[in-house]
Amino acid sequence: MSLFRRKSLDLLLSEASNSEKGLKRTLGAGNLIALGIGAIIGAGLFVRTAAAAGQAAGAGVTLSFIVAAVGCAFAGLCYAEFASMIPISGSAYAYSYVTMGELVAWIIGWALIMEYALGAATVSIAWSEYLNKLLGGQIPYEWCHSPFESFTDSAGVLHAGMINAPALVILLLLTLLLIKGTQESATVNAIIVFIKVAVVLIFIAIGWQYIKPENYVPYLIPENTPPVLDKAGKVIAEYSQWNKHGWGGVLGGAGIVFFAFIGFDAVSTAAQEAKNPKRDMPIGILGSLVICTILYILFGHVLTGVANWKDFVDPEKGREASVAYAITTGMPKFGWLATAVTVAILAGFSSVILVMLMGQSRIFYTMSNDGLIPKAFGQLHAKYKTPYKANIILFVFVGLFAAFVPGHVAGDLTSFGTLFAFVLVSIGVWILRVKAPNLERPFKAPLAPVVSVLGALICLAMIYGLDNETLKVAFGWMALGLVVYFLYSKKHSKLNK
Ligand code: ALA
Repeated sequence: MSLFRRKSLDLLLSEASNSEKGLKRTLGAGNLIALGIGAIIGAGLFVRTAAAAGQAAGAGVTLSFIVAAVGCAFAGLCYAEFASMIPISGSAYAYSYVTMGELVAWIIGWALIMEYALGAATVSIAWSEYLNKLLGGQIPYEWCHSPFESFTDSAGVLHAGMINAPALVILLLLTLLLIKGTQESATVNAIIVFIKVAVVLIFIAIGWQYIKPENYVPYLIPENTPPVLDKAGKVIAEYSQWNKHGWGGVLGGAGIVFFAFIGFDAVSTAAQEAKNPKRDMPIGILGSLVICTILYILFGHVLTGVANWKDFVDPEKGREASVAYAITTGMPKFGWLATAVTVAILAGFSSVILVMLMGQSRIFYTMSNDGLIPKAFGQLHAKYKTPYKANIILFVFVGLFAAFVPGHVAGDLTSFGTLFAFVLVSIGVWILRVKAPNLERPFKAPLAPVVSVLGALICLAMIYGLDNETLKVAFGWMALGLVVYFLYSKKHSKLNK
């Protein structure tokens, strides 16, 4: 029984076309682009843009967006080739199963749990924070923080977190929506996407008139910039490292804003529900990536033009709620826009969570059909035709993280899982080109080996740039995955038959 036994492409394609039994094909090109934008625009844009500007790139954060987008574009082209050729819901997991065999497929499926399930948990925690902000901080600390967090208020009273209840509520609501139906979920997603893109466009259009050109001088952070201290004299930002100033800082900033691009690959998990995947998968994946890249560059340009990047490190200025800060200080007549941005952020986070949960349940569905995880994950609801049991189990799993774990722990693991998948998909495209050159490829990534090699290298470099703690936890998670594989999945794999 080989660890590298591969699923045949013919088998996979026949499964994908058997939609009588399986998921319903209801999504068109517009739905797919909206799904991508739904998953892409979220905490990365609204929170990390200012962080990258203040800590590494200065006004050059626009260049950081371009660098991160180029890295994602290589991976995106490879995803587009696979998703149009193998229109099945397992995304990177399914592609690896035919190209690199069962063990690699399992490893990637396990890593994707980090991307989608932990991604959903991270963003639901951020959602809870912003909801509390919108409500003027009325939710008691205990009820919106994990037990690992605490703070002492100005009267000297210690508050300890207990459970993050709002995060659980948003996860439950979106889970119920997903069970109700893919088309219903796509409709809600489309409405949210409309709201968040509209607010981003309004911010860009109005903010453009308030840009102060002096904020762009110097454009990148100078090497000799002194460190920034808080009131107690603790260093909260410093710029001497190679990736914190000048062109190095542009690269450092790219690592920070990479999170903002995560999600275009989620389009590929809906391949089995696309009406015309051959044509529409590349449109959905690359279209959403291109639209978001343009919006991001313009958004970064306006944000760092309206407020100076130095304000984004200053705790008394725009270190938190940076976009609202830029509006209230730099665009005086448009205070209402700050509230609109908070509403757009809440809506934006909801659609990110929605698409992440959907992507994860579809990957579980495919892995279960292959026998690698229990059957329950693959059972469809008799009426709604959605993998409802997978959705419910996922709610419990993601909910545990969201309720009891601090947000920052899950955030970088999300980037690790995503980058890992990008590396394998980039390599996989090349392997399949060599092994099966004559297969029908409705969409072909241009300059094949170059795109694959660059995609894999850039993503490996970004993994290398993650901090050591994240890498340790990520490898621990992967080791646990191998134990599960050898104790359960290998024995239950359908390829045994
Ligand atoms: N790209 C998604 C976000 O920024 C994950 O929230």
